[in-house]
Amino acid sequence: MARMAAQNRGKNKKALVETYGCQANVNDSQRLMGMLLEMGYTLTSEREEADVILFNTCAVRDGAEQRVFGNLGALKNIAEKRGTLIGVCGCMAQQSAVAQRIRTRYRFVDLVFGTHAQGKFPILLEEALTTKERVCDISENTEIAEGVPTYYGGGAKAFVSIMYGCDNFCSYCIVPYVRGRERSRREEDILAEICALTQSGVKEIMLLGQNVNSYGNDFGEKDAFSRLLRRVSEVEGLERIRFMSSHPKDLSFTLLETMAQYSNIPHQLHLPLQSGSNKVLKDMNRRYSRERYLEIVEYARSLMPDLALTTDIIVGFPTETEEDFLQTCDMLERIRCDSIFSFIYSPRQGTAAAKMENVSTKEEQAERFKRMLELQNTISLDINRSFVGKVQRVLTEGVSKTDAAMLTGRNEANKIVNFPGSEDLKDKFVDVKITRAQTWVLQGELI
Ligand code: SAH
Ligand code: SF4
Ligand code: F3S
Repeated sequence: MARMAAQNRGKNKKALVETYGCQANVNDSQRLMGMLLEMGYTLTSEREEADVILFNTCAVRDGAEQRVFGNLGALKNIAEKRGTLIGVCGCMAQQSAVAQRIRTRYRFVDLVFGTHAQGKFPILLEEALTTKERVCDISENTEIAEGVPTYYGGGAKAFVSIMYGCDNFCSYCIVPYVRGRERSRREEDILAEICALTQSGVKEIMLLGQNVNSYGNDFGEKDAFSRLLRRVSEVEGLERIRFMSSHPKDLSFTLLETMAQYSNIPHQLHLPLQSGSNKVLKDMNRRYSRERYLEIVEYARSLMPDLALTTDIIVGFPTETEEDFLQTCDMLERIRCDSIFSFIYSPRQGTAAAKMENVSTKEEQAERFKRMLELQNTISLDINRSFVGKVQRVLTEGVSKTDAAMLTGRNEANKIVNFPGSEDLKDKFVDVKITRAQTWVLQGELI
């Protein structure tokens, strides 16, 4: 039990973990917080009162990295004034060039460790605190650390990672380089975690993986994800099971049938398309065609006519011409997503696409991005309007951040629903009648 080494280290001390990345990164932060709590620290959200500040970083786009560097710069004063221990971990830190840059340009950073060293965090922290030397661990290690204490946040929803890493090497993407090869957790370990969560009051689980459809491939099993999903659905007391992300190349129709069959799996699917052009999809190394994607959506909707679909789109991939872009718009019109997550292509050093030549200018990319959002906003609003007058089952998350008089929650489709109500409805399911639709939110009233 290496973790025991540092117990009591955090007595009367406070720690802050700031998260910069995706759901997997959020879940990693929850484990880091769990370990800090086990060491005796209390958690804070104030940089000024923290004894330990940890930045859990994301490397997926340049913007994400710049945000981290900007915020890191702002820590220098606090670190010098209060002697705060500063740590940088996660996907950015796993890249040796970044780790090096932090060592030379941000000398007040005491601890740097990558995604692979996460399980060793208590030992690394102990080392940094006792030796007063700067500690760095970006070694590779693909072993799965089970039994790490996790701070889930205390609400009715929880993330559960079912696998780590990625083997797909989409040509634009840094994730396989910073998270290592794909490895799946054992079904029994996942189920044990979920059972414990439901017993502690959790009602909704989001199963996480870069490509959940290839869950279990490393055990040599086919379609193990559909089976896992069925077993999770049968966990007593679990009311909603969601999952992300699905890769169209690996999605099985059995999975769609499972979704249709189990009442606690919402008819909601996040299925990243990335581009609607077969040429660009090929250059992205996505290994499916627009035709295959349409086939999946068509079958899914034949089983679940109320399916809520979301997707990811990259605009301005190096080989994307205006014609290719129009193909993406055409796909968006055909598949009619509830919402999309769209990004302007950002070259990532070391990936295959970073070596490709750009056929479009930055201005063209920005203009396409804007055009696509306008198109999608019309579709999203149109779909949301069809909810007006309908009653939705909403899991309340708490008071709305933008309006203290309103509660906020999510319906089956995972859309944000705001409605007036009292705070004691937090973490409860309620029925809400939708009275007004906006592009990203539904407004309603309790019935
Ligand atoms: N594993 C997930 C996605 C992880 S990254 C999946 O395959 O769906 C989340 C999203 O970021 C991707 O779907 C993609 O749309 C976007 N993304 C990844 N690399 C990018 C890059 N270099 N530039 C712009 N967007 C990128
Ligand atoms: Fe990146 Fe592709 Fe893996 Fe998703 S599936 S994490 S986009 S390489
Ligand atoms: Fe997630 Fe960013 Fe890493 S998207 S996997 S935190 S590079």
